[in-house]
Amino acid sequence: MKSKKNQKRLTAKTIVHIVSGSIAAYKAGDVVTKLREAGARVLCILTPSARHFVTPLVLRALSGERVYDDFFSVDSEHSVIHTELAQSADLILVSPASADFMAHLAAGFAGDLASCTVLAATVPVVVVPAMNDQMLNHPATARNLKILRGFGYHWVPPVVGHLVCGKEAVGHIASDDAIVAAVSNLLGA
Ligand SMILES: Cc1cc2nc3c(=O)[nH]c(=O)nc-3n(C[C@H](O)[C@H](O)[C@H](O)COP(=O)(O)O)c2cc1C
Repeated sequence: MKSKKNQKRLTAKTIVHIVSGSIAAYKAGDVVTKLREAGARVLCILTPSARHFVTPLVLRALSGERVYDDFFSVDSEHSVIHTELAQSADLILVSPASADFMAHLAAGFAGDLASCTVLAATVPVVVVPAMNDQMLNHPATARNLKILRGFGYHWVPPVVGHLVCGKEAVGHIASDDAIVAAVSNLLGA
C-alpha cells in the first residue's frame, strides 16, 4: 500500500527529468512512476547515450507525456524546445547523472537538448550521480561535482551497492525514495 505521505505532494508541479547514459537509466521509469504517484507532471529528456539504456517508448508510456530526445525536430509543437522546457519546469532532475553529462554541465556545454535545457533554466537542479566507484572518485569527477554544487545545484549522493563491473562499492544510484524525497523537499511539498 502507498504511504499517505507519498501521495499527491507534487500536484501541479512539473519536473523535467533528464536521463543520461548510465546503466542506472533502466531504473528511470520507476522514478517517473513515483513522481507521478506524488502528483507531478514529468517531462523526460533523453541524452543520445541514454537511448542505449532505456527506450523513449518506456518513458513515454510511464510518464504519459511526449519524450524529448531530438534537439532539432521540426515536428515538435515547440518552436524552441530547450527554452520552453526550461520555462515549464518547477525543477530539473538529472537522474541518473553520468560522469560525462556532469562534465558537460560543469563546463557549460550546450551541444545537446539536455545540457542546453539546464543552461536555460533558473529553477532548482538536482543531480543524481551513478557510476563506477573509480569514475566517481576520480579527481575530474570530484571537481565537476564541486563545480555543480558551486552553481547551487543539489545532489543525491550515490550509495554503496552492486556496480555493473561486478563489485560492491560506492557509485550505485540512490534509492527512488531518496530521489523523490529530495525533489519533494526542494519544492516544499
Ligand atoms: C554498459 C555500460 C554502462 C555504463 N554505465 C555508466 C554509468 O553507470 N555511469 C557513467 O557515468 N557512465 C557509464 N557508461 C559510460 C557512458 O555511457 C558514456 O560515458 C556516455 O558517453 C555518457 O553519455 P551521456 O553524456 O549521454 O551521459 C556506461 C557505458 C556502458 C557501455
